[in-house]
Formats: sequence, structure tokens, C-alpha cells
Amino acid sequence: MLVWNPEFLREGFAVEDTLHPDRLVYGVPEGEAGRRAVDVLDAVYAAPLGEGTPRIVTDLPTAELVKVAANSFLATKISFINAMAELCEVAGGDVTRLADAIGVDCRIGRRFLNAGLGFGGGCLPKDIRAFMARAEELHADPAVSFLREVDSINMRRRERMVDLTVGVLDGRPLAGARIAVLGAAFKPDSDDVRDSPALDVAERLHQRSARVVVTDPQAVPNARRKAPQLRYAETVEEAVDGVDAVLVLTEWSEYRTLDPGKLTGLVASPRVVDGRNALDAQAWREAGWTYRALGRP
Ligand SMILES: NC(=O)c1ccc[n+]([C@@H]2O[C@H](COP(=O)([O-])OP(=O)(O)OC[C@H]3O[C@@H](n4cnc5c(N)ncnc54)[C@H](O)[C@@H]3O)[C@@H](O)[C@H]2O)c1
Repeated sequence: MLVWNPEFLREGFAVEDTLHPDRLVYGVPEGEAGRRAVDVLDAVYAAPLGEGTPRIVTDLPTAELVKVAANSFLATKISFINAMAELCEVAGGDVTRLADAIGVDCRIGRRFLNAGLGFGGGCLPKDIRAFMARAEELHADPAVSFLREVDSINMRRRERMVDLTVGVLDGRPLAGARIAVLGAAFKPDSDDVRDSPALDVAERLHQRSARVVVTDPQAVPNARRKAPQLRYAETVEEAVDGVDAVLVLTEWSEYRTLDPGKLTGLVASPRVVDGRNALDAQAWREAGWTYRALGRP
């Protein structure tokens, strides 16, 4: 008997998400076989069910679609706010305040509305592309053609980050400029660099002859294997030494809480581009830094 029981585990939270999931989905066949499958799964998930975890019993195709639909919705939410960031950039708005304002509407919600360099990793990009490919096989591609736009908004943020870096250099050519990239993992608290926006931006800058030094609290070994052409540093202090600009591309908590005053003496020019809207812009400006961010004035 085939039963479909999708998981929704986030990297870095696999145990927590297994023990305390948001929901359980059972895709089962009709009839007695399906009822037996539900009993078996209920026994397996007795602990989370005992905590009141919602359980949705459905047919096999719906269960399979739940997984890709959930990931597509999350990717769409991120690209929606990043599209608003593009508009904020031309209209002079602040996307972080925009996200706060629309996010308090409980129909929208503030979660997954952080504008910045966009999504990556081994799940969301692959899942939306696989969903489009499968829909095409089923001759239903118009239903998910919007995901192509979700993907392209996401990828545009990376090139926009390169443009902002060129802008912050204030006339100095990118070729030969020394750039510190803080963050290589696709998200904080992970050493995963698969489809990492941060590492992609570092590689794009390197391709344009910038002298890039990358650091990350956990992902340097993986990044070194994936992008051996880049230079790496073990610490922020080492990475920013003598650079013309600092880019914050993964929102690790240790980067959010960096003391800009302490870094000023290390860099050649105090210029920072906040690719994750993770820094306290006012504190950095008050410490003498030129501060730029995606989607903010
Ligand atoms: N972890 C796995 O091995 C695996 C395998 C296959 C599918 N999946 C599916 O993929 C989903 C996502 O897993 P994940 O590990 O990539 O985790 P995640 O949900 O923590 O992160 C996904 C992406 O969203 C971004 N993001 C996170 N919070 C955000 C916010 N507030 N605003 C804007 N962007 C934000 C992250 O930078 C990341 O690129 C899972 O729920 C699961 O259904 C996971």
C-alpha cells in the first residue's frame, strides 16, 4: 500500500519540526486500506497528536500537492516583499516599514516578509522549479506560470546587490576593489551553501574582478569546496581588514550585533551594504559609515 506523508522540516530545526510539527498530512487510499494506514500513522505520531497538532487526512494527489503548494506560497511571499523592495527603491520608500505595516494585518502576517537578498538553499528554489516542470507535464503550466516570476524576482535581487555594491564604491571601479562578504550560508544557523544567494553574489563580484574575501561562522569549509576561486577568512575582523566595502549577505545574529565603531578602524573605507536589512542603519551611520540596503532609502 502506498501512503503519502509529506514532511515540512526546516534545515537546522529538523528535530523540533518533527516533534512539534505545524500539521500532519496523511495521503491515503480510499476504503479499509486507508483506514488501516491512518491507524498506523496515528500510532507513529501519538505524541504530536496528543499536543493537539492538526491532522489532515486526504487522498494521495492532494497530499503530494500540499508540500509543493506550501513551499511555493512561502517563496511567493518572499518574492512579493522583494518586488515591493524594488518599488521602494525607485519611489524612495522603506520596505522594512512597509512589511511591518502590511504584516500587522492578520490576514497577511509579518512572518516570511523580510525583504533582502531572497531565498535559496536545497528546498525552495528546487521545489518551485520542479513544480513548474511537473505542471507542464500535466499540461497545467499556466496555473503556476507566476512561479517563473517569483523565481526571477528572487534572482534579480542578486544582481541588484552587485549594483548597490558598485554604487557604494562611489566612482571607484569594482575591478580591483576589496570587498568583504559576511555570510556564505543560504540562511543563518546553517552551513549549507546550496543555491546560496550570499555565495552567488560573492562569485558575481569575483567574476567582475573585485578582490572578494568571504567569511561565515559555519559555512566556510563548504563554501571553499563550492567556490575555491574566492578568498576566505575565519573571522569578521580578518575579512574586513583594509576593505573598500563590507557586504552583509547572511543575517547571522553575530553580524546583526556587530559594533560598527569597532570595525571603522579596520576598513580602508567605512561603507556597508546590508543585503538582509539586518543592521541598525542609524547606529552604522552615526559611527561614520555610508550605509546602503536593499529596498530602503
Ligand atoms: N530541510 C530539508 O531537507 C528539506 C528538504 C526538502 C524540502 N524541504 C522543504 O523546504 C521548506 C523550507 O526549508 P528550509 O530549510 O529551506 O528553511 P526555511 O523555511 O528556514 O528557509 C527557507 C528560505 O526562506 C528564507 N527566509 C526564512 N525566513 C524568512 C523571512 N522571515 N523573510 C524572508 N525570507 C525568509 C531563508 O533565507 C531561506 O532562503 C521546508 O519547510 C520543507 O517543506 C526541506
